[in-house]
Amino acid sequence: MAKILGIGNATLDIVLTVDGYPQENDEIRCTDRSIRRGGNTANTLVVLSQLGHACNWAGMLVDTAEGQFIRNDLESRGVDTAASRLVGSGSVPISSILLNGRTGSRTIIHYRDLPEYSLADFCSLELKSFDWLHFEGRNIEALWAMMRWCSERYPSIPRSLEIEKPRPGIEDLFGLAQVLLFSQTYALSRGHTDPERLLQSVHRQFPGADLFCTWGVRGAVSMDREGRFTNQAAHIPPRVVDTLGAGDTFNAGVIDGYLAQRDTVTILRQACVLAGKKCGRTGFDGLSCSGCQGP
Ligand code: FRU
Repeated sequence: MAKILGIGNATLDIVLTVDGYPQENDEIRCTDRSIRRGGNTANTLVVLSQLGHACNWAGMLVDTAEGQFIRNDLESRGVDTAASRLVGSGSVPISSILLNGRTGSRTIIHYRDLPEYSLADFCSLELKSFDWLHFEGRNIEALWAMMRWCSERYPSIPRSLEIEKPRPGIEDLFGLAQVLLFSQTYALSRGHTDPERLLQSVHRQFPGADLFCTWGVRGAVSMDREGRFTNQAAHIPPRVVDTLGAGDTFNAGVIDGYLAQRDTVTILRQACVLAGKKCGRTGFDGLSCSGCQGP
């Protein structure tokens, strides 16, 4: 079991399951409705906690019933929230999500009115006991300072960075982590029509990091520090019911693989199988890595 700190968002997800995606100005009924705790880093930590790790979340919460709901959910799933910061006003980040029950696709409309986790918040944490630090690629200026601070003070603690959305300055963070986790959305935003091209161009500039890029139903690709590619097909469950947080689950699979000191090929495979298992179920409960590393 490793001790992991994740720095990023926890959200309130209002998920409406619809039987097919609506047209603009339609009025339709949903077939199911749920209110869940979400957020990329929070999702990743919830999965890692189920894989047996001691997880801690560093992010922002508001002192409202919604904030309490998020905290309770994380704590009940074994994620320690002592490193979070509570503010008295604003709103927890809220995502209104249409989940297409026919395809499992998720369409997210996000609202945020909350200050960001600051460098001062971060520097007040007792970091030396952690085995892994995972950063969500947002709040870029502060994140840059946090990652820099870690690389100077705690160089032996490995750092992973999630790069899901293109954000101004996010590339400045690439040299500050050993594991970079890219999304298809990011690759396309940079004009790369396949994951290999993105990884190749990042590797040229940042040869010190292992690189991963997810690509939906095609699966995922990795490139290690020596420049070796691995391709892994997606693990598609018999029925895709919920893809919300599949990328966050993939990231958890990668981090777990490194902590178990597996090789890159096995890590990529395990992450794809875990993400696939997630797509076959609603939410994140009941996920395990059993059978993830096999042939
Ligand atoms: C899924 C997710 C949701 C959240 C949204 C935020 O990856 O983390 O839980 O609402 O993305 O962008």
